[in-house]
Amino acid sequence: MERQRLIERILELKEKRKAIILAHNYQPPEIQDIADLRGDSLELSLKASKTDAEVIVFCGVYFMAETAKIVSPKKKVLLPVGSACCEMADMITPEDVLRLKEAYPDAPVVTYVNSTAEVKALSDVCCTSANAVKVVGTFKEKQIIMLPDMNLARYTQRFYPDKKIIYFEGFCPFHHLLTPEEVLEAKKAHPEALFIAHPECRPEVIDLADRVASTSGMLRLAKELPNQEFIIGTEVGLLYPLSQQNPDKKFYHPAPEKMVCPSMKKITLENLLSSLENLEFEVVVEEEIRVKAYNAVKKMLEIV
Ligand code: 13P
Ligand code: SF4
Repeated sequence: MERQRLIERILELKEKRKAIILAHNYQPPEIQDIADLRGDSLELSLKASKTDAEVIVFCGVYFMAETAKIVSPKKKVLLPVGSACCEMADMITPEDVLRLKEAYPDAPVVTYVNSTAEVKALSDVCCTSANAVKVVGTFKEKQIIMLPDMNLARYTQRFYPDKKIIYFEGFCPFHHLLTPEEVLEAKKAHPEALFIAHPECRPEVIDLADRVASTSGMLRLAKELPNQEFIIGTEVGLLYPLSQQNPDKKFYHPAPEKMVCPSMKKITLENLLSSLENLEFEVVVEEEIRVKAYNAVKKMLEIV
C-alpha cells in the first residue's frame, strides 16, 4: 500500500477502534510522527490511562505495553509486534528476585520499570531512570536491592555512600556497549558540546558525563540549556525528537551504529495498521500479578 494511503487507513481505524497510539522516544521517525503521544514509557502509560480511549496501541517494547496494562486494566493494550522485547528486562526471572530477597530479607526491593510485570509484582517499589535516586533516598534501610540494571544501581550508589546497594547484574546491551574511548573521541571532535549520558551507561562513561538523564530528561535539558551542541549517550532513536524539537541546535552521537535497540525498530506503519485491523497482539497480565505490580508503581508515584 502506498505510504499516504497507509497513514490514512491507520488514522481511520484509530477512530473506529477508539484507540490511542503511543510511541516511545526511540521509535522510528514515521511511528513517532503518527503517534498521538510520544515520550518515555511511564509517562506514556500514565497519560494514556487518563484518556477515554478504549484501545492503547503501544509502539515500544513488551514491558512498556505491560506497564500500560498495569495502570489501565479496563483498556485493551496492543503491541504491534509480539516479539518486541527488552533484552535487559528479560535477563532477570522471578526466581532470581526470590533468591535475592531470601539472601537479604531486610532489604527493600527497588525495581526499574524496565522489567516484566512478574518482577514488578515481587518488588516493594518501582523507579524510573529519572527518579531512582529519589526513590532509594526514601528508605531508611542501609541495604537496598536494585533490579534489574546494574548500571542504574551503580549510578544511584554514588548518591548514598552510607548505603549498600545490592544489585542484579542485568544491563541494557546497547547502552552498556558505549565505551569511554568513544565518548572521548566525540568530545575531541566537538569540544563545545555538552555530553549527556543515560544512567544505563557503564560507570566509566558516567564519569565523563556533564549531565546524566533519562530520555525525557535529555529532551528537557536540550530545550532548557543555553548550549548549542550536545553529545547524546543513549539509543540513537532519541536524536530524531531532539533535532525536531531543537532545529537550531546540533546533536552528535558517539556510537550511532552500536547503540541501536533492534526491538525498538520492529514497528512499521504496515504492522501498526495490521495491529489496529486485527486487534493484535493483545497484552494480558494475570490480575493477581497486575495488582501487586500496580502497588509497586503506585508507591513510586506517591514518592515522586
Ligand atoms: P527512558 O525511561 O529513559 O525513556 O528509557 C527507556 C529505555 O528503554 C532506556 O533504554
Ligand atoms: Fe531495553 Fe535497552 Fe532496548 Fe531500552 S534500549 S528497551 S533498556 S534493550
